Amino acid sequence: MTTHLSIAVESLDGAAAYKIISGIVVPRPIAWVASLNPDGGINLAPFSSFIFLTYDPPKIGISIGPATAWRKDTLSNIERTGHFTTNSVSVDQLQPMANTSRLYPAGESEAHHLGIALAPSDHIVTPRIADSEASMECVVDKILSLEDRDAHHLVIGRVVGFQIATHVFKHDRLDPALYRPVGRIGGPHYFIPGEVRGVQPVPDPRLSKKS
Ligand SMILES: Cc1cc2nc3c(=O)[nH]c(=O)nc-3n(C[C@H](O)[C@H](O)[C@H](O)COP(=O)(O)O)c2cc1C
Repeated sequence: MTTHLSIAVESLDGAAAYKIISGIVVPRPIAWVASLNPDGGINLAPFSSFIFLTYDPPKIGISIGPATAWRKDTLSNIERTGHFTTNSVSVDQLQPMANTSRLYPAGESEAHHLGIALAPSDHIVTPRIADSEASMECVVDKILSLEDRDAHHLVIGRVVGFQIATHVFKHDRLDPALYRPVGRIGGPHYFIPGEVRGVQPVPDPRLSKKS
């Protein structure tokens, strides 16, 4: 039998709870977000509290925080302009992506400073990262305060355009053997996709009449 450690959340401070929850919810996909600075430069930053929420219309969620003392540039830009792009991260992009998580002064264009190539979006003004295999052009649907101690905000974006590299797109979908974005585990650790295994539910004769 598996032995478990029972931990009451009220016995943990925020840092300890972060270590545990960010180790449980793994691997997390990374939204490498491009947003427009007030001077027209492009801010880039990675966010792994990132989820697809709905598909008709497609909406995604990103949790941005902590921001008790200041707002992250991404959140300020998204609030001000109402749009942003998410961009996938392949293994070749790991280091440049990590570099964009540094705390640059507000208004400094990470894209320009780090030499990360951008390409125009088709449906919004904010560009996408040119070498990313899958980008989503998003307009803000809602920004919700999550009412936690670190003042996280959930940005809900409605996707108005997909940009997908043709070499990973087969038969109307992203081919899982070809599209292999990295995932975040915790701290400096990332998940590099390996085996892809197809598993179907075993048919249950009790359910066959209904299905
Ligand atoms: C892989 C990775 C994932 C991250 N995920 C998040 C996240 O989900 N939410 C968040 O607030 N910060 C996250 N961060 C930290 C932000 O990227 C970092 O605070 C960044 O400096 C924000 O930049 P900005 O001020 O230009 O928006 C992550 C960092 C890395 C390296």
